[in-house]
Amino acid sequence: MNNIFLEEIDSTNRYAKSNIEKLKDRTIVQAARQTAGRGRLQRCWVDLGGDNLFLTFVLKPSQTFQEVYSNLTQYLSVILCKILEKYDLQPQIKWPNDVLVDGKKIAGILSETVMQGNAFKGLVLGIGVNLNADEKELEKIDRPVTSLNLQTGKSINLKEFKDMLVNDFFENYELFLKEGFSYIKEYYINHAGFLEKEICVQILNEKKSGMAKSITDKGELVLEKDNKDLVLTIGDIL
Ligand code: BTN
Repeated sequence: MNNIFLEEIDSTNRYAKSNIEKLKDRTIVQAARQTAGRGRLQRCWVDLGGDNLFLTFVLKPSQTFQEVYSNLTQYLSVILCKILEKYDLQPQIKWPNDVLVDGKKIAGILSETVMQGNAFKGLVLGIGVNLNADEKELEKIDRPVTSLNLQTGKSINLKEFKDMLVNDFFENYELFLKEGFSYIKEYYINHAGFLEKEICVQILNEKKSGMAKSITDKGELVLEKDNKDLVLTIGDIL
């Protein structure tokens, strides 16, 4: 495994994408500060200071894109939840990969596929985890957010947390790629706080609402509306 540590960068995902040719499979790009962190739905990821985690996994598992790669964000959300449980927290997953504690977002995950023409170059799988945040700074964010120090009442060692996340990720990574979403399905469903609730999902420029009925073996969300099932592969619960 290769580790790159940057004192300051616009975005570790963008850095990884720009340097994808040079970066080896399983490179970790971490930054102390991100000036333009990227989030899902074109949102930005706010930098809450140097004791928080901004990290991108550079993954080149094969020469061609495989369907299971789309589930890596869900795999990473499960790895993170298992770590948060070690801190005696009860994390929940919001489809597809947001991790919440106490109903508030503690981490964000953003995967981007890098293509050159038709050629698959790799994946950049970014994660930001709020480890040590100031309550006042969190209040400035327009959505409910929390951090591990506020949830546990203790300051969190960034290096220890990062090592745990990276090691746990790679411990089951190959098995996950082989088995696919089924490998994590039971745990994922047991932590899916949105199931059996009325929800609204943003899918590109469209919104769909309905009852979150189930999760398929491929990690898709089944939304029930007027007695019809809609199977969603992409989207974000609002
Ligand atoms: C989300 O909107 O929930 C996803 C946020 C992902 C943030 C992380 S921080 C490290 C990596 N670099 C980025 O620019 N974004 C991801």
